Amino acid sequence: MGIFELAGICLTMGIPLLVQRLIDGPLKDGDFSGIVWLSLLMLAFALVDTVATAYVRWQQGHVGAGIEYDLRQDFYQHLLSLPAGFHSQRHSGELVTRFTDDIKSIRRFGNFGAVFFLVNSASYLVMIGVLLYLYWPLGLLVAVGLAPLLWFCYRFESRYGELEDEHQEQTEQLTSQVEESVTGVTLIKAFGQAGNRAKRFAATTGQLRRISIKQAKLIGGVLAAISLVPNLVLLAVLIAGAYAVAHDAITVGTLVAFTMLTLSFNWLLEVLGWILQLAREAATSSARLEQVFAVQASVRDGEQELTAVRGELRFDNVRFAYPDAHESVLRGVNLRIAPGETVALVGAPGSGKTTLTALVPRFFDVTGGSITIDGQDIRELTLSSLRRHVACTFEEPTLFSASIRENVTLGRPDATDDEIAEALATARVDFVESLEFGLDTRIGEQGIALSGGQRQRLALARAVLAKPRILVLDDPLSALDVHTEAAVEKALRSVLGGVTALLVARRPSTVALADRVALLHEGVIIAHGTHKELLATNAAYRNAMTTDAHLAPDQEPLEVK
Ligand SMILES: Nc1ncnc2c1ncn2[C@@H]1O[C@H](COP(=O)(O)OP(=O)(O)OP(=O)(O)O)[C@@H](O)[C@H]1O
Ligand SMILES: [Mg+2]
Repeated sequence: MGIFELAGICLTMGIPLLVQRLIDGPLKDGDFSGIVWLSLLMLAFALVDTVATAYVRWQQGHVGAGIEYDLRQDFYQHLLSLPAGFHSQRHSGELVTRFTDDIKSIRRFGNFGAVFFLVNSASYLVMIGVLLYLYWPLGLLVAVGLAPLLWFCYRFESRYGELEDEHQEQTEQLTSQVEESVTGVTLIKAFGQAGNRAKRFAATTGQLRRISIKQAKLIGGVLAAISLVPNLVLLAVLIAGAYAVAHDAITVGTLVAFTMLTLSFNWLLEVLGWILQLAREAATSSARLEQVFAVQASVRDGEQELTAVRGELRFDNVRFAYPDAHESVLRGVNLRIAPGETVALVGAPGSGKTTLTALVPRFFDVTGGSITIDGQDIRELTLSSLRRHVACTFEEPTLFSASIRENVTLGRPDATDDEIAEALATARVDFVESLEFGLDTRIGEQGIALSGGQRQRLALARAVLAKPRILVLDDPLSALDVHTEAAVEKALRSVLGGVTALLVARRPSTVALADRVALLHEGVIIAHGTHKELLATNAAYRNAMTTDAHLAPDQEPLEVK
């Protein structure tokens, strides 16, 4: 608490004391010049108090905005550092609410609540002190009379806190529902679920309304107590004070000062109810932010820079279980991909192909065994250098609401237009030329909508442009029609010639791009060889390529080649 807040408190207390002097001195004696002097002094007090209050408000606004800025920065940085699994387990609506509502309620408390709370408590103590000094029996009466309010406030705090928790939970659900409905609007319409969705939404908003009403009732109750109790105390002060004046225990001036001070309590206490509400909301919000901050990045940055990569990628007895999952998805994968070689990874849906590819750029760390690049465990490498040399495409190509250029150059912001053109040509992104703004056309929410195949090709161009030594492609051609697939394949073949690649494949045409195929089944690689060899010799492979059917149970996992 600064000097200005203290000055404000002293000046507020000072005015009733001046009134006391005025009544008991110049007013009683008919001393006109004394009246003028004291009045001018009171005016000066009031003016300085006004300036101090304005300054304090301005400062509080500053502090609140600072807190909000810092929290937003820290929270966002933290979100980006969290393990990939964290986001798949949570609705993004939850995080959005925390990012917006929770940070806002902390700011509100920072803006007014925190400082007001301190000023309020200090004023309270100073005022009781002044009252005791003026006439201790009456001071004691005020102090004791107001005590039940503390109990009220305490009860309010805990009950309001519970409601606030529920309120925030429901808000989270609401945000998630809106978000899902917006992103999945086609699906909802296609399955005629609009009515059901609306009902669910109405249930959640109804719940939210009920909680808000309960909160309002509670606030109403505490505000009623806060305004009733001080008025009763005031009444008691007036009666007891009049008695004391009649018996010459205090002067009229003292009684007036007493009344003025007790009246200003009312205002302090009213503000207190509001502060309690802000404090409770801010406490709930910080607990919710804390939950997210407490999640540690599970992938730790290594220390060695990955430079001059030859490109040997090796999986040694790799085991992996998702956090909180009982069963391992990968149970001892052994695979060696020589520099420049392309290996297609084939397996039934759910066999762990995507999981295995996610381990290479370290979205997750292996839970057993190791993955090495040129003999070096990837956990020892810095994440930035690892990810510079390993480029990926995902099953669902994610594009940002930004220009095509920004989307494609994500891995290499410094790429020249020629390089971008080359990458786009490789991925057969031919639709850009026909767009009015070319590379600067925006995609997504404020721009053009792309088809599944177009998105996939853009994502591929992005991976190719990064000029990695190691490419990890999760079924990069799945959404392409036969003609485009053939064209992209041809171009990809030239790219794959120079890099080490792990290529998840579900179709023979994609497999044909690879030098060798590895067959993943229930978390282990049960066969590998060339496409032709496997087609000729392995019934399980033939099945996987045609129907992804079950594999022969008698096949043993293979050792590293
Ligand atoms: N984030 C996750 N948390 C927990 N379990 C997961 C997660 N992602 C996948 N799994 C589980 O891991 C197993 C393997 O999934 P994965 O996505 O790797 O399969 P896949 O071979 O890529 O399948 P598909 O061919 O359908 O793409 C599945 O049983 C799935 O339920
Ligand atoms: Mg997959």
